[in-house]
Amino acid sequence: MTEPTKPWNCSIFSDNVYRLSAFTVDNETVNFVRLDGRKAKIDEDEMKQYNIAVLIGSLRKDSFNKKLAEGLSKLAPAEFTFKQIEIGDLPLYNQDDETSPAPSVTRLKEDITNADGLLFVTPEYNRSVPAVLKNALDHASRPYGESVWNGKPAAVIGASIGPSGAAMAQQHLRNILACLNVPTMGQPEGYITVSDGLFGDNGEIGPASRDFFQGWVDTYVAWIKKFASA
Ligand SMILES: Cc1cc2nc3c(=O)[nH]c(=O)nc-3n(C[C@H](O)[C@H](O)[C@H](O)COP(=O)(O)O)c2cc1C
Repeated sequence: MTEPTKPWNCSIFSDNVYRLSAFTVDNETVNFVRLDGRKAKIDEDEMKQYNIAVLIGSLRKDSFNKKLAEGLSKLAPAEFTFKQIEIGDLPLYNQDDETSPAPSVTRLKEDITNADGLLFVTPEYNRSVPAVLKNALDHASRPYGESVWNGKPAAVIGASIGPSGAAMAQQHLRNILACLNVPTMGQPEGYITVSDGLFGDNGEIGPASRDFFQGWVDTYVAWIKKFASA
């Protein structure tokens, strides 16, 4: 017998149930093998992988929003893969360049095209969306009629050191996403004020906030599955 071939996934549920989803042995597909011999949660759409493009509104090396994005991704099921999209090397949007886009613009549009869903995690700059994020939104919306955002399901969340938790930036972002025909999760909202204990030592969401964020991610996962095209 040959070694199982990828792709395969193994994840551990909170009730310590292990599962291994589809893999192949000797060219035969074997689905949903139980590792613990007791019980397994079996989900027909487990086979599908969801690629999520993560857009972070901060270029700062130690960005809290970057950490938040990474913490959220750890709460998602194994069939969700998160890719942080590079937006820091994009030129400033100039309509004159649309006919000869920079390689970074082409790459951005490919990344978004290849994604099943979007996750926006942004701070607030002067009560609005940071320019670097708006620049990326504008680039990938053009040329007219060729926006790659169209129809991609998304959610918005954001953190700031202030008490408003990037609320106005998130509302402005929702406005932009409505214009771009991006179905955006309405609830739960996530206006996150950075405080001690928000993150654990390994970058995971800290225990005091874990229930809220797990609920947020669970709703996000359902939202993406509902709207992502087959
Ligand atoms: C240019 C600038 C404008 C800011 N404006 C706001 C603001 O309007 N509201 C707010 O809550 N925080 C504001 N802040 C503080 C940010 O919330 C804080 O710097 C946060 O850590 C940035 O997110 P990051 O850690 O992901 O980089 C501002 C910061 C900068 C650099």
